[in-house]
Amino acid sequence: AAPVEVDISKLEPGQKIDVDWRGKPIWIFRRTQQELDTLPKLNDLLRDPHSEIITQQPPYCQNLPRSIKPEYGVMVGICTHLGCIPLYQPKPGSVDDEWLGGFFCPCHGSKYDLAGRVYKGVPAPLNLAVPPYWYPSESRIVIG
Ligand code: FES
Repeated sequence: AAPVEVDISKLEPGQKIDVDWRGKPIWIFRRTQQELDTLPKLNDLLRDPHSEIITQQPPYCQNLPRSIKPEYGVMVGICTHLGCIPLYQPKPGSVDDEWLGGFFCPCHGSKYDLAGRVYKGVPAPLNLAVPPYWYPSESRIVIG
Protein backbone atom coordinates (compact mmCIF):
# COMPACT_ATOMS: atom_id res chain seq x y z
CA ALA A 1 0.00 0.00 0.00
CA ALA A 2 1.10 3.55 -0.71
CA PRO A 3 2.66 5.77 1.95
CA VAL A 4 0.45 8.59 3.23
CA GLU A 5 1.71 12.17 3.47
CA VAL A 6 0.21 14.44 6.12
CA ASP A 7 0.52 18.20 6.60
CA ILE A 8 1.02 18.90 10.31
CA SER A 9 1.54 22.66 10.06
CA LYS A 10 -1.85 23.41 11.69
CA LEU A 11 -1.57 20.89 14.52
CA GLU A 12 -1.50 22.77 17.83
CA PRO A 13 -0.08 21.42 21.12
CA GLY A 14 -2.77 19.24 22.71
CA GLN A 15 -4.40 18.33 19.39
CA LYS A 16 -4.58 15.05 17.52
CA ILE A 17 -5.44 14.19 13.93
CA ASP A 18 -6.42 10.78 12.56
CA VAL A 19 -5.37 9.45 9.20
CA ASP A 20 -5.89 6.13 7.50
CA TRP A 21 -2.88 4.04 6.51
CA ARG A 22 -3.37 0.53 5.10
CA GLY A 23 -6.85 0.47 6.63
CA LYS A 24 -5.49 1.27 10.09
CA PRO A 25 -6.22 4.40 12.12
CA ILE A 26 -3.02 6.37 12.61
CA TRP A 27 -2.89 9.12 15.18
CA ILE A 28 -0.64 12.13 14.89
CA PHE A 29 -0.73 14.24 18.03
CA ARG A 30 1.29 17.13 19.38
CA ARG A 31 2.40 16.99 22.99
CA THR A 32 2.78 20.00 25.24
CA GLN A 33 6.01 20.54 27.16
CA GLN A 34 4.14 19.69 30.36
CA GLU A 35 3.01 16.39 28.86
CA LEU A 36 6.57 15.58 27.82
CA ASP A 37 7.84 16.42 31.31
CA THR A 38 5.36 13.91 32.78
CA LEU A 39 6.63 10.92 30.75
CA PRO A 40 9.74 10.03 32.82
CA LYS A 41 7.72 10.12 36.05
CA LEU A 42 5.48 7.27 34.88
CA ASN A 43 8.12 4.60 34.29
CA ASP A 44 7.37 2.56 37.45
CA LEU A 45 3.71 2.28 36.47
CA LEU A 46 4.37 0.83 33.01
CA ARG A 47 4.98 -2.66 31.64
CA ASP A 48 7.61 -1.71 29.06
CA PRO A 49 8.76 1.81 29.97
CA HIS A 50 11.90 1.65 27.81
CA SER A 51 10.19 0.22 24.73
CA GLU A 52 12.30 -2.94 24.84
CA ILE A 53 9.76 -4.99 22.89
CA ILE A 54 11.13 -4.17 19.47
CA THR A 55 8.09 -5.22 17.47
CA GLN A 56 6.20 -2.18 18.78
CA GLN A 57 8.22 0.64 17.23
CA PRO A 58 10.93 1.26 14.62
CA PRO A 59 14.46 1.52 16.08
CA TYR A 60 14.50 5.30 15.59
CA CYS A 61 11.51 5.56 17.96
CA GLN A 62 12.97 3.46 20.78
CA ASN A 63 13.28 6.49 23.05
CA LEU A 64 11.28 8.13 25.82
CA PRO A 65 8.57 9.83 23.72
CA ARG A 66 8.69 6.95 21.21
CA SER A 67 8.99 9.38 18.31
CA ILE A 68 11.41 11.14 15.96
CA LYS A 69 10.60 14.62 17.28
CA PRO A 70 9.56 14.64 20.96
CA GLU A 71 6.59 16.95 20.38
CA TYR A 72 4.90 14.83 17.72
CA GLY A 73 3.57 11.37 18.52
CA VAL A 74 2.68 9.00 15.67
CA MET A 75 0.90 5.75 16.66
CA VAL A 76 -1.34 3.03 15.34
CA GLY A 77 -4.60 3.73 17.18
CA ILE A 78 -5.47 0.11 17.93
CA CYS A 79 -5.51 -1.33 21.45
CA THR A 80 -3.01 -4.19 21.79
CA HIS A 81 -5.56 -6.20 23.77
CA LEU A 82 -8.40 -7.02 21.34
CA GLY A 83 -8.20 -4.21 18.85
CA CYS A 84 -10.62 -1.51 20.01
CA ILE A 85 -9.76 2.12 19.35
CA PRO A 86 -8.61 3.87 22.53
CA LEU A 87 -9.78 7.39 23.36
CA TYR A 88 -7.47 10.39 23.55
CA GLN A 89 -7.69 11.56 27.17
CA PRO A 90 -4.77 13.96 27.56
CA LYS A 91 -6.10 15.76 30.64
CA PRO A 92 -5.01 14.62 34.11
CA GLY A 93 -7.98 13.25 36.07
CA SER A 94 -10.13 12.65 32.99
CA VAL A 95 -10.22 8.86 33.60
CA ASP A 96 -9.57 8.63 37.34
CA ASP A 97 -7.76 10.55 40.06
CA GLU A 98 -4.42 8.88 39.35
CA TRP A 99 -4.65 9.49 35.64
CA LEU A 100 -1.97 11.78 34.21
CA GLY A 101 -3.21 11.69 30.64
CA GLY A 102 -2.88 9.47 27.61
CA PHE A 103 -5.10 6.97 25.84
CA PHE A 104 -7.87 4.98 27.48
CA CYS A 105 -9.50 1.93 25.92
CA PRO A 106 -13.21 1.83 26.78
CA CYS A 107 -13.60 -1.86 25.89
CA HIS A 108 -11.78 -3.37 28.89
CA GLY A 109 -10.11 -0.40 30.54
CA SER A 110 -6.56 -0.54 29.22
CA LYS A 111 -4.52 2.58 29.80
CA TYR A 112 -1.60 4.03 27.85
CA ASP A 113 0.40 7.17 28.47
CA LEU A 114 1.01 9.93 25.93
CA ALA A 115 3.91 7.94 24.48
CA GLY A 116 1.56 4.97 23.92
CA ARG A 117 3.20 3.01 26.74
CA VAL A 118 0.85 0.55 28.41
CA TYR A 119 0.24 0.64 32.15
CA LYS A 120 0.72 -2.39 34.38
CA GLY A 121 -2.42 -4.18 35.59
CA VAL A 122 -4.58 -3.74 32.48
CA PRO A 123 -5.50 -6.37 29.88
CA ALA A 124 -3.44 -4.91 27.02
CA PRO A 125 -0.04 -6.66 26.88
CA LEU A 126 1.98 -4.28 24.71
CA ASN A 127 2.69 -0.63 24.05
CA LEU A 128 0.77 0.87 21.14
CA ALA A 129 2.52 0.26 17.84
CA VAL A 130 4.44 3.08 16.17
CA PRO A 131 4.32 2.85 12.35
CA PRO A 132 7.34 3.58 10.16
CA TYR A 133 7.40 7.27 9.25
CA TRP A 134 9.72 10.13 8.31
CA TYR A 135 9.76 13.88 7.77
CA PRO A 136 10.22 15.01 4.17
CA SER A 137 10.09 18.61 5.49
CA GLU A 138 9.54 20.48 8.76
CA SER A 139 5.74 20.41 8.51
CA ARG A 140 5.05 17.14 6.71
CA ILE A 141 5.08 13.52 7.83
CA VAL A 142 5.06 10.48 5.57
CA ILE A 143 3.63 7.30 7.10
CA GLY A 144 4.92 4.08 5.56
FE1 FES B 1 -8.68 -2.42 24.62
FE2 FES B 1 -9.59 -4.80 25.50
S1 FES B 1 -9.55 -4.05 23.47
S2 FES B 1 -8.80 -3.14 26.63
